[in-house]
Amino acid sequence: SEIPLKKLKEGLLSVTSTEGKDAISVDDKGGDSTVSITVVGASGDLAKKKIFPALFALFYEDCLPEHFTVFGYARSKMTDEELRTMVSKTLTCRIDKRENCSEKMDQFLKRCFYHSGQYDSKEHFTELDKKLKEHEGGRVSNRLFYLSIPPNIFVDAVRCASSSASSTNGWTRVIVEKPFGRDSESSAALTRNLKEYLEEDQIFRIDHYLGKELVENLSVLRFSNLIFEPLWSRQYIRNVQLIFSEDFGTEGRGGYFDHYGIIRDIMQNHLLQILALFAMETPVSLDAEDIRNEKVKVLRSMKPLQLEDVVIGQYKSHARGGISYPGYTDDKTVPKDSLTPTFAAAALFIDNARWDGVPFLMKAGKALNTKRAEIRVQFRHVPGNLYNRSFGTDLDRATNELVIRVQPDEAIYLKINNKVPGLGMRLDRSNLNLHYAARYSKEIPDAYERLLLDAIEGERRLFIRSDELDAAWALFSPALKELEEKKIIPEYYPYGSRGPVGAHYLAARYNVRWG
Ligand code: NDP
Ligand code: BG6
Repeated sequence: SEIPLKKLKEGLLSVTSTEGKDAISVDDKGGDSTVSITVVGASGDLAKKKIFPALFALFYEDCLPEHFTVFGYARSKMTDEELRTMVSKTLTCRIDKRENCSEKMDQFLKRCFYHSGQYDSKEHFTELDKKLKEHEGGRVSNRLFYLSIPPNIFVDAVRCASSSASSTNGWTRVIVEKPFGRDSESSAALTRNLKEYLEEDQIFRIDHYLGKELVENLSVLRFSNLIFEPLWSRQYIRNVQLIFSEDFGTEGRGGYFDHYGIIRDIMQNHLLQILALFAMETPVSLDAEDIRNEKVKVLRSMKPLQLEDVVIGQYKSHARGGISYPGYTDDKTVPKDSLTPTFAAAALFIDNARWDGVPFLMKAGKALNTKRAEIRVQFRHVPGNLYNRSFGTDLDRATNELVIRVQPDEAIYLKINNKVPGLGMRLDRSNLNLHYAARYSKEIPDAYERLLLDAIEGERRLFIRSDELDAAWALFSPALKELEEKKIIPEYYPYGSRGPVGAHYLAARYNVRWG
């Protein structure tokens, strides 16, 4: 009953020089089976903002099986029609703005239904099961549950869904949203509890950064271009920077955020996942287990984060251009004396032959001056640089830098030193630039589209395995505990600024300047 992994077999492995050709095409439409996707927590923010729009985009792209149904499940009382009205407000035709997709939208909405129920009620999930069966019409039933609910009710929902609404003749899979615990112990407990009701291969732990186009491209860049891999080590790379910054605060999510903070919200998952893909050894194959084995190996080769290698900050209110921007603790759901970091910078190290001594610097912050997510690779200086000696230029500082701009305005560019055209000999820094918007006319899919499609296809490559999760928490839990026990006071920075100056001192300690 599994849909073949066409994406891997035909899409990913086919190299085409023609832009715009579809990488994904599901022509095996599932035959006599159905896929029922239940969005648990359908009334919530993530469901509206990301999940339903991603499902619609997949439908629009003809990537969903012929027989599929989407069910919203939550406590709120809603009719099918009310769900459709709610969902229709966030669907967009972003895939192809020229085409009128309202017809497709109507077709999609007709496949959406709603069931109201409690998350801890087997009886309510049994009612859902009955409705799902009616829609499945006796076909082989495959069921995907997307847990888009607060983490404290994950286990209840899984217990009830697995016992009352699992498929009896096809597969049942559950997508779990982060946070996966707040430290090693709580994460292990969550895994243990989920595994009381599910096998590991039924659990799809989502880290939506893995679904981002440029993060997926990292392995292609490394392993299918001869020029990068030989340079990918301590021998040529001086430092690697993983930067996440948002130009808005925790608006509306303060209650959640205060319990987690930026290290758990961004570093332990999104940035660390990028780091693992960046630094791993060549996997045996593109199979999910081979890739995840290599990621775990890198994570397990890392030293746990040391307190002296972390700087934390928290944004405070700031008035600019007549507008007053609120501080983190101005949020009513955040305690006035909260020490939760909204910014952090950290230096991490991988203790293996390839990366020994290379600082991997992470920086993540909310309410900063820019919105961006980037990987910056700074290379070593050219030994005995001829142009330094002959022209007294300071090329030691102008070393090569490879930038992978994950978002916005996706790009990969390499900073090189170049002769300024003319009779003299003047050098400057220029970019060899792969700018996605200029090179590819097709809209980049949202991360959730890729991940939902993978979950439907049973492709686990971009989901987090439990041993990966354990290794990731082992790196951050001790420092997090120390920060909280010692009540370390964050460095305050104004909303919209570049963040605490302490981040620069941390980088300088390792002879690094942030890009
Ligand atoms: P919401 O807070 O919007 O909750 C989703 C739904 O869960 C609500 O509509 C509500 O539905 C139900 N719910 C909320 N609180 C409770 C409660 N205390 N007890 C029982 N039910 C409750 O969450 P989001 O949609 O923002 O996020 C869902 C999940 O995704 C969370 O785990 C979150 O951490 C994660 N996530 C969210 C992101 C985002 O951008 N929003 C980004 C990344 C991850 P009802 O009352 O109708 O039952
Ligand atoms: C989520 C975090 O995982 O990622 C949010 O919980 C953050 O705090 C978001 O805003 C960023 O995602 P994106 O895709 O908008 O960069």
